[in-house]
This record gives sequence, C-alpha cells and structure tokens, in this order.
Amino acid sequence: MSTQTLSAWLRCPNCFQRMSARGPLTVACANGHSFDVNKRGFVNMVAGSRRLTFDSAAMLDARDSFLEAGWYSELRATLAATAAALSPALSPASVIDIGCGTGYYLRGVQELLPDSAFLAVDLSPSAVARAVRSGGVGVGVSVGNVDGLVANVWSPLPIKDQCADLVLNVFAPRNASEFHRILRPRGTLMVVIPQEEHLQELRAFGLALDVQPDKHRHLVEALSAHFALQSTTRLSTVMSLSPPAVAALIAMGPSSHHAQADTRADASPTHKGVTAAFEILSFSRLGT
Ligand SMILES: C[S@@+](CC[C@H](N)C(=O)[O-])C[C@H]1O[C@@H](n2cnc3c(N)ncnc32)[C@H](O)[C@@H]1O
Ligand SMILES: [Zn+2]
Repeated sequence: MSTQTLSAWLRCPNCFQRMSARGPLTVACANGHSFDVNKRGFVNMVAGSRRLTFDSAAMLDARDSFLEAGWYSELRATLAATAAALSPALSPASVIDIGCGTGYYLRGVQELLPDSAFLAVDLSPSAVARAVRSGGVGVGVSVGNVDGLVANVWSPLPIKDQCADLVLNVFAPRNASEFHRILRPRGTLMVVIPQEEHLQELRAFGLALDVQPDKHRHLVEALSAHFALQSTTRLSTVMSLSPPAVAALIAMGPSSHHAQADTRADASPTHKGVTAAFEILSFSRLGT
C-alpha cells in the first residue's frame, strides 16, 4: 500500500471531504484535517478518548493460532470461492473487510482475487496491523494491495461513498446503512454468522456465548431496507480438537473476558468433538 492507495478509500471523518496523500506518512483533506499513517501501513481515524471494546492482543494471538491451524479453512475457502465467483463482473474488485480481525478471511479472498484492492477495517489497531502485515505490506516497504483503517463501525465510517464492490463482514458488528453507502450500486455484501449449533459443546460448559435463535431471519430483516438476500451457504463439521486448540478457541472469543481459558479447557471433556457451523449469506445492494 501507499498513502495514495490508502487515501483513495477515505473521506475525512470531520468534514467528509475527500482525503489525499500529503507526503509519505500523512493523509489530509482540503480543509486541513490531517492524519498520520502508521509505518506499518494503516491510519487510525477513531476520534476521542471514549473507552471502546475490541479484541485484545491476547485474543488476536489465540485467533491467529486457532485459525492458522486450519480449523476454519473450509469456511475461508468457501467464502473466497463465493467472492471469486462474483469477480468476472467485478475484476479487479475493491474489497473492504469490516471487523477484519487478523485478516485470515481477507487473505483467503486475496489469494483468489490477487489483482483486487483490499481495505482491512477494525476497531482494534493491533488487528488492523496484523491484517495489513499479513497482506504483505508496510508503507514504502513492500507492494502489497491491502490498506488498513482503524474505525468504529457504529459511527459514520471515514470511507468514501460507493468505493467498494464487495464488503465482507465475518462474525463482526454491522452497520447496514453505512455498508450500503460505501458499496457501489451493483455491489455485494457477504456476511458470515454462526448457526445455532456452533460450538454447542463448549456452550454446555459456559465457554461460548449463546447464538441468537433464528439469527438468519433477524439478519435478513435487519438488512432488508438496504440489501436483498441472494444466496445462503451452510457449512457444518465436528472438529476433534486437542486441549490447546480448545484453549485457543475459547481465548479468541468473548468468553475469554471472564474465563481462565486454559484451566477451563483442561477441565472440560469437550475437545472430543466440537461443532463448527456457519452460514455465509450474500446480499445484493438495493437502489442506485
Ligand atoms: C469475532 S471477531 C472476528 C474477526 C474476523 N472477522 C475473524 O472472523 O477472524 C470481531 C472483530 O470485530 C472487531 N470489532 C468489534 N467492535 C467493533 C466496532 N465497533 N467497529 C469495528 N470493529 C469492531 C473486533 O476488534 C474483532 O476483530
Ligand atoms: Zn476534513
């Protein structure tokens, strides 16, 4: 990435004007609002000092360890293949992953759409740093095609109108009207959610959060003012996890906030078999 490619995604969070590169490590708008670009290749546009909750470095380490062991590789491959199937119409595509975490899913899509441009977005600066780095980057260091942005999905996003062909949202918070605004008219939103039986064996031990009943219907309804459901792919498997893999799975999720993951995972027999069950939903953007 470069400040040029990064600024091409952005609008000013203060005045909503276009941003452009001002030297090697600054982006700024015409009204003089400027932001430092981290040497690692991303910009932080979260304003204020309000305390916000996002994945910690320890959670990201656990997520890296679990995902890189390949336990969710089928999900990544299916998500990437679904995205690539859109690509004849889109290629090269502009892809934004919102709530990107370590960039594991973004990387899967990047492998199948290597000519496309990517923006990795998360509230956690450490997550964005990992996603950008794993995409092969660093300002002036390399020539990867992943830019990074620290932003809060619950606020107006500092991302330009209609600049994306594809928005990815994998187990992360959503903002339907903002996703609609940043997508081009024929753009696609791909959302991954858990099915009800996802991690049910861990839930029985209080080691995973409940999945909202009828989550599919709630999601489709919540997006319906802006998006129409095009397709749903369901994946389900039972993983035979080792105790360290169970510990990583617990530590990467929200229950790590209150659990001593290692101890509880050792005490639990659940590693004999843990269900992973996902839905990939593709939505087309409504309107012009
Ligand atoms: C369950 S993780 C999923 C990460 C990644 N998509 C994956 O599946 O590996 C949820 C992610 O959303 C991010 N997140 C939480 N609240 C957010 C917010 N308000 N705005 C943007 N990102 C947020 C977290 O920091 C975390 O990286
Ligand atoms: Zn401005």
